[in-house]
Amino acid sequence: MTDPKKLFLKTYGCQMNVYDSERMAEAMAADGYVQTDVAEDADLVVLNTCHIREKASEKLYSDLGRLRPLKAAKPGLKVAVAGCVAQAEGAEIQRRMPLVDLVVGSQAYHRLPAMVRGNRAAVDTDFPVEDRFDLLPARSGGRGPVAFLTVQEGCDKFCAFCVVPYTRGAEVSRPAARILDEARALVAKGVRDITLLGQNVNAYHGAGPGGDWTLARLLRELAAVEGLARLRYTTSHPNDMADDLIAAHGDLPKLMPYLHLPVQSGSDRVLKAMNRKHTSAQYLALIDRIRAARPDILLSSDFIVGFPGETDQDFADTMALIRAVGYGAAYSFKYSARPGTPAAERPEVDSAVADARLQELQALITQQQRAAQDAIVGRTVGVLYEKAGRMPGQMVGKSDHLQAVHVTDPAGKVGELVHVRVLASSSNSLSGERIPG
Ligand code: 5AD
Ligand code: SF4
Repeated sequence: MTDPKKLFLKTYGCQMNVYDSERMAEAMAADGYVQTDVAEDADLVVLNTCHIREKASEKLYSDLGRLRPLKAAKPGLKVAVAGCVAQAEGAEIQRRMPLVDLVVGSQAYHRLPAMVRGNRAAVDTDFPVEDRFDLLPARSGGRGPVAFLTVQEGCDKFCAFCVVPYTRGAEVSRPAARILDEARALVAKGVRDITLLGQNVNAYHGAGPGGDWTLARLLRELAAVEGLARLRYTTSHPNDMADDLIAAHGDLPKLMPYLHLPVQSGSDRVLKAMNRKHTSAQYLALIDRIRAARPDILLSSDFIVGFPGETDQDFADTMALIRAVGYGAAYSFKYSARPGTPAAERPEVDSAVADARLQELQALITQQQRAAQDAIVGRTVGVLYEKAGRMPGQMVGKSDHLQAVHVTDPAGKVGELVHVRVLASSSNSLSGERIPG
């Protein structure tokens, strides 16, 4: 018997890429590849890339540079670049880095096995019309109690800074029945917590019995899946927070009290220049309605600082919005011009000014995140154990609010959903004790 072939897979960027990487690994497993953490052992290296900011794309090229000696020592090694850089740059990647054997666009993962076997062209950046996930093997699961499930891809919003509409294409929703099947298959393999993924997930409008389903309808049906304990979804656009979705946050106990709702900026002038199509007052009114439906909901957002034309006053407006909302978490980025997007044509804010704003914003978010954690101390929360902790007898999991919780529980098992009294809050996590029952 020959040894199985080995796959080294590196994922850059977002949760959608994490999901895509899992699916690619499953597709290659069907061809006899097992995953390795050691690049030197690999027969196939797949780099699943992100194009959203310049730094993310640059990482690809520095990693490819580091693969050069490996490829020289092992000519049979195949190197594949997948994901959004592959989609955006196509064959250009091979011109710049001849060691790259395969370029697999973000819509072509189901064709990766055939490309590796040499049965297809080495560069594939087509946008197929079919549901690419259905062309991949069934979910294998077995990676713990938490899973992502892509329900929607692409984006029609065309925010002025963003490459997603170009790299991931127009919005496409998967049919509801396929999503329900995939969710049931995951639950059968031990998954208890599913996060529905989409670049614009709350715009979901997949075909279902009786016509197109909204995300709220899909969540309702998923909530009925026995054995599934928790549901979440990400990422959402404020303009697609429909009434039925807001209501679902009040009605569905399995829908966890955490919502990532990016606003990007608190300045109406900047929001307009970003083509976000809402004002800060509209966003704040929306937050009020969501909190009315689910008062304990924890909110998070994405922010961009230093967007072209952003003044001190615009930035002050963003800080005021953050203070008004009180976030439980947030991701913040310095603006990065992306070729082909409208904002890339506009004069940039001074880099040092943008750096200073980013620091100030992040300090405020850190404060708010800590305040949200501290507010939970003394309360009892649901925790789903994801793995054993570093300390003996310790388990680590996530609270309903997606906060990391360390629990001393020598009898604890991965996949258990337990009640925990929170005793302490530290910079990035909570700790507590299990309450019987
Ligand atoms: N520069 C900086 N941040 C960006 N994002 C998207 N495009 C850019 C860009 N050109 C951020 C947005 C988005 C998140 C996924 O990445 O905040 O919500
Ligand atoms: Fe990009 Fe999100 Fe805007 Fe779509 S809604 S263009 S994915 S930032």
